[in-house]
Amino acid sequence: MEFDLTGEHSRYAYKLLAGLVTPRPIAWVTTLNEDGSVNAAPFSFFNVFGTRPPILGFAPGDKEPGIPKDTARNIRRTGEFVVNLVDEACAEQMNLTSSEVAAGVSEVELAELKTEPGVSIKVPRIASAPVALECREWSTLEIGQNRLVIGLIDRVFTEDGVLDPETLLVNPEAFAPIGRMEVPSGYCRTADRFEMKRPD
Ligand SMILES: Cc1cc2nc3c(=O)[nH]c(=O)nc-3n(C[C@H](O)[C@H](O)[C@H](O)COP(=O)(O)O)c2cc1C
Repeated sequence: MEFDLTGEHSRYAYKLLAGLVTPRPIAWVTTLNEDGSVNAAPFSFFNVFGTRPPILGFAPGDKEPGIPKDTARNIRRTGEFVVNLVDEACAEQMNLTSSEVAAGVSEVELAELKTEPGVSIKVPRIASAPVALECREWSTLEIGQNRLVIGLIDRVFTEDGVLDPETLLVNPEAFAPIGRMEVPSGYCRTADRFEMKRPD
């Protein structure tokens, strides 16, 4: 099959791209609402893009043309956010925080999430997340109804056991992030891994 996404098949872009470009990691983003409560929402249009400096990006689509989702609006106002990573144990709560609630209603309270205070920024991280990345907004690109939030990663937190304290390599027994798969509601586990050495 073949699709013209900028032409006659543009209405299928979400179904095709979100369904095919998989598995994707999930950024569970915390930000501060104007009243000081904590907003949390998952975004799977997400990845890291470089390490010198360490940067990441994720893409909240606008609610309606020109009206950003709460996460993007909070980041524009405060310049700060945390990307929490999601493992199987967090999956249900992550999903709960994707529900549409009125601006100012805290998904963190809705999902009964515990948080830890921020260290280099004011935004708290999710206590149960195995990894958390404190970020400052580098820039937000507005491309049609997408916003691509680019963040400078300031500080990394990992649950005990995730990294070998000597080598800083990931312990695959202790870190099993989930991935986003086919539309509308597919996910994958990452328990079944294999290794492949790079050619010399
Ligand atoms: C696993 C998962 C991944 C998602 N990824 C995205 C995404 O990449 N971009 C987006 O705009 N919405 C995405 N959503 C939907 C948002 O989480 C949802 O619109 C949320 O209510 C936004 O919250 P906010 O208004 O507090 O920012 C995703 C939802 C789930 C469950």
